[in-house]
Amino acid sequence: MKRLASAGPSPAPGQHSDPGFSRAVVDWQRQHGRHSLPWQQSTDAYRIWLSEIMLQQTQVAAVIPYYQRFLERFPTVVQLADADIAEVMALWSGLGYYSRARNLHRCAQLVRDEHGGAFPADATLLATLPGIGRSTAAAIAAFAWGERAAILDGNVKRVFCRVFGVEGFPGEKRVENALWERAQALLPEADAQAMQAYTQGLMDLGATVCTRSRPACPSCPLAQRCVARETGRVAELPQRKPRKPVPVRHADMLVLVCEGRVLLQQRGPSGIWGGLLSLPELALDVRDGPQAAQQVAQFAAGFGPVRDTGVLPERSHGFTHFTLHFRPWLVRLDEVSPAVAEAAPYAWLPLASVAGAALPAPVKKLLLGLFGANDLLAAA
Ligand code: ADE
Repeated sequence: MKRLASAGPSPAPGQHSDPGFSRAVVDWQRQHGRHSLPWQQSTDAYRIWLSEIMLQQTQVAAVIPYYQRFLERFPTVVQLADADIAEVMALWSGLGYYSRARNLHRCAQLVRDEHGGAFPADATLLATLPGIGRSTAAAIAAFAWGERAAILDGNVKRVFCRVFGVEGFPGEKRVENALWERAQALLPEADAQAMQAYTQGLMDLGATVCTRSRPACPSCPLAQRCVARETGRVAELPQRKPRKPVPVRHADMLVLVCEGRVLLQQRGPSGIWGGLLSLPELALDVRDGPQAAQQVAQFAAGFGPVRDTGVLPERSHGFTHFTLHFRPWLVRLDEVSPAVAEAAPYAWLPLASVAGAALPAPVKKLLLGLFGANDLLAAA
């Protein structure tokens, strides 16, 4: 027999309270929700806790065999607490996120040693135990005792963001706090069974109907009240984590050509393009004005008499952690001084071989753009 939790004082009707919401979720769960998951066959807090920890970062189908093996080996929380951690880890092996298994064992030992072998029957107390966050605590308390405690896992956040048109990234504290407030205000007022159906209903909706991509809106009991659906924003809500602006780096590169060849330089072993042959990078004291062109010509003169120097429009290349803006300086030599013809780390590459050479992609693209056509090649 499930007992009714002492719900404490009823919250003052918050600005978000809406009895129709929980009624719709409860009715839907009873008719269309999941009812035969192994952990739904019990109101034993130990079994529910075990399932909720396993389900924290793992899908239902993957959890079921682990859940059953754990319960066979450890039918009670005290048996789990008494086990060697190595055996717990071995049974957990394959479920991933192993800190969950270490916390599981520590939690079982605390329940054995400080709570007389029974989970504390209150969501606030549960949340003080290792591995049990606020939402997991509420799920255990709702399923085990019908406590009026609100869950808010990733799936439920998605449902709320869509139904109520909540703007902002739900991982942001301000948005998350607002969602918790809603979650609390929307709890059903009724009995323990309603709390269980409501909690399971939110989970089932998030997992099977209001999915991240291609949600089944026509089957959703909340479709009539869904702001995202009404405003055509289902695909946009919840909002993604805002991207940090990527840092920008600038480089000046020398495109030194002579007699149908281009000068390359072997890069150092680290950093972007480490170890690759690329265009020489110029460390200019000033980036603009005649002084910059002079410095380029001076550097180029070390390889032979300079015919002409010109700067080309800046190009960009996106790396994962930054964007590189690079400015090519095109310099032509009359001839290559014999003394520096092939001095390491420099090498001359025939322009006709650029396409097949192992060069950084944006460098190859630049050179092919400049010299890819035969008439341009002849002019180099
Ligand atoms: N995910 C987290 N808790 C769950 C539960 N009790 N049933 C199904 N999926 C869940």
